[in-house]
Amino acid sequence: MLARRAYIPDESLPRGSRRPWPLDVPCVAQLADEGMTFERPVTFLVGENGSGKSTLVEAFAEAWGLDAQGGRAGRKYVNDRPKSVLGEMVQFDTTTLGARHRIGPRTKRKGYFLRAETAFGFMNAVSGMRGYWDEDTSEMSHGEGFLTVFAAMFREPGFYLMDEPEAALSFQSCLRLMHLMYELGKSGAQIICATHSPILASTPDADIIEVGEHGFRRSKWEDLALVDHWRRYMATPEAYLRYVTEE
Ligand SMILES: Nc1ncnc2c1ncn2[C@@H]1O[C@H](COP(=O)(O)OP(=O)(O)O)[C@@H](O)[C@H]1O
Ligand SMILES: [Mg+2]
Repeated sequence: MLARRAYIPDESLPRGSRRPWPLDVPCVAQLADEGMTFERPVTFLVGENGSGKSTLVEAFAEAWGLDAQGGRAGRKYVNDRPKSVLGEMVQFDTTTLGARHRIGPRTKRKGYFLRAETAFGFMNAVSGMRGYWDEDTSEMSHGEGFLTVFAAMFREPGFYLMDEPEAALSFQSCLRLMHLMYELGKSGAQIICATHSPILASTPDADIIEVGEHGFRRSKWEDLALVDHWRRYMATPEAYLRYVTEE
């Protein structure tokens, strides 16, 4: 593991009681108040749309020095945006390994931020570049390309931040990505991943943080609202479809 905790030093917070976005998002407010600990090599952030998962993952990526547009540490691909407000504020308590990881030159820093919306463009942009992957992803399906990229990027223990990487993946491909994450977690790397996938969230030994109106709290896979909805839907789709067809 590399980071034990993310927090916002008091002196970085705006004075006064009014907290501008994103500090008014409940999970970010809780991060500002008490910090977020990372207890396992693999941490999933789950929660409804708009609950603040992307805001957190992006800020963590920026604060660690990973390119927030999706890419390897220290390199910019899609466009050169200034750091987000939150990315400037977040600090980490690191492990010894994490401290060493961060001292090295930015370009040598192993890690990866994958944002679902930009990953495809990123893949095309780096296709054929040395040091990435040998396969030509332009001749693969979206999902195959993703898995190739994951497998290649996951070779080294670094800090991996991901935002809904399941977007392009089939059931089987999700299982393979889950397996990759599990192996990577065991290798000394650290992963923080926002997901809606009950498959990814079921990664053995992973920590799950449920984000929402309440802020954030640790949860067990079997207690997640996400899992409950899927379970019920698969068992009796009619119960949900009634709302679609009635009227
Ligand atoms: N640039 C922005 N300015 C103001 N509000 C934003 C901005 N980006 C996102 N938000 C709001 O912040 C909240 C959290 O968004 P986000 O982190 O994208 O949620 P999630 O990834 O969990 O779906 C949402 O209410 C969203 O509308
Ligand atoms: Mg999001």
